[in-house]
Amino acid sequence: MDIRFQAGGPSQWKADVVLSFVFEGENAETACSALAERAPWLGIAPAWRDFRGHKGELVMFYGPQAMEVSRVLGVGLGKADKSDLTAFRHAVGSALRRCREYDLETVGIDGASLARTAEKLGVGFDALVREAVLSAFLGLYRYERWMSKKSEHADPRRLSLMLEGEYVEDAVRAAARMAEAEAAGLMLARDVVNDPANVMTPSVFAEKAQSVASKYGMTFRVLGPSELAAEGMNAYLAVARGSSEEPRMAVVEYVPKGAEGREPVVFVGKGLCFDSGGISLKPAKGMEDMKGDMSGAAAVLGVMEALGRLAPSLAPKRPVVGVMAMAENMPGGHATRPGDIVVAKNGKSVEIVNTDAEGRLVLADALCWAQEQYRPFRLVDIATLTGACAVALGLGAAGLFSVSEELGAALHEAGTTLGERNWRLPLWTSTSLEALKSPCADMVNSGPREGGAINAAVFLQQFVGEGIAWAHIDMAAADTADNPINAKGATGFGVRTLLSAVWEKEKTLLQ
Ligand code: BES
Ligand code: MN
Ligand code: ZN
Repeated sequence: MDIRFQAGGPSQWKADVVLSFVFEGENAETACSALAERAPWLGIAPAWRDFRGHKGELVMFYGPQAMEVSRVLGVGLGKADKSDLTAFRHAVGSALRRCREYDLETVGIDGASLARTAEKLGVGFDALVREAVLSAFLGLYRYERWMSKKSEHADPRRLSLMLEGEYVEDAVRAAARMAEAEAAGLMLARDVVNDPANVMTPSVFAEKAQSVASKYGMTFRVLGPSELAAEGMNAYLAVARGSSEEPRMAVVEYVPKGAEGREPVVFVGKGLCFDSGGISLKPAKGMEDMKGDMSGAAAVLGVMEALGRLAPSLAPKRPVVGVMAMAENMPGGHATRPGDIVVAKNGKSVEIVNTDAEGRLVLADALCWAQEQYRPFRLVDIATLTGACAVALGLGAAGLFSVSEELGAALHEAGTTLGERNWRLPLWTSTSLEALKSPCADMVNSGPREGGAINAAVFLQQFVGEGIAWAHIDMAAADTADNPINAKGATGFGVRTLLSAVWEKEKTLLQ
């Protein structure tokens, strides 16, 4: 779907259908006065009799077919004082799905109604443009790769922002570009997560990362079993031993012009292409969901894709490095046994008492490696790490841990405004270290159920150097969803939050 602008006011607007946002209790005059100039039939369209503007309500208004604008899709947002950005995003997603169902090829968004909506929701116009464009793409996203019968309906060809002013402001253009880049990153992340584990293996994932890197002229490196061994990454290797799929740690490095030599922002993603639990095998029920245990790495890949699309004009001021640590956790003759002891890259020994607590082992070494290679300005890891995090915060939210007040606050603010909800959890270091005491090694890899997400975070902290601005995002409860901007399956959670962290002060946040 192409994104276009139609500036110059209502007299210039033309599309198969125009979306207009309506709050509860509004009528045609208040909601769509600008649009009514172009579609004079709108005010007396009979469908107003039943359209209430409820949240989730969609009503099609029809005018004479010969008019330039002969269809308007009324998009209900609910009561103005109760509505929010989530309702807005879902409304846009549902609206685009409806347009596709009706095989409408060109879709417009009534910019006057968008401006009014921005005001009522208390966000800037350009910020709402960004959310509208992104939500349009996300609503239309579908994963049909394996369906022998694909959907008969093609996506709309064009989405036009219909503006009242003579010109398209730079901020509005930038917002739309940002949304397109984010959409590409999110959809790539969703695709790799939705792909099953027999297809999206560690090597295939690494190849995907390589193709993103080469598409945008970024540097690519990959470490296989022998390189990981040479680097002393024995905790990581212990996880992969049970599988016949070799581990791959893929590294994509993006150095924007003028950023050479500056300390980079480094992202590290957990990339368990399948987590059976290993010898500490998981129960059968729901195990298929563990094909998504590489959602952290997928988010990192999505960020690199988005950055590639934003370059060169919207490039960050620092290099950005994406480290994706892929492996498969399987039981097998070579698999790590409970009780095995390994020495991680930084020399710390770990007694692996539960082979299902594998993510932290992979990340421990990947974090060490990243700090040895780079001097991160910011170091953020993201992982589907603990079921305990889901128990603590519920579905749809991530746990956020940070040793840096500034980074923690920035990531919390970004996630909250961008629709990737996170909540800060504490690093109670000495308590967790007590819980992770081993009688025969420096630490065990898994403690008691209580505080499981915190214990995992503190475990990772043992592999992060003093003074590094590090944060950890546990997205175990946010990797899948089913809603109007998320076809049942992968979310792409984390792409937006991480992307925001490459700018020290994000200019296009939703204030
Ligand atoms: N990948 C899982 C965590 C997970 C669970 C992600 C559910 C998404 C949905 C992780 O590797 C794991 O198995 N964690 C264990 C840790 C425990 C053994 C300390 C868990 O949460 O049960
Ligand atoms: Mn596990
Ligand atoms: Zn896992």
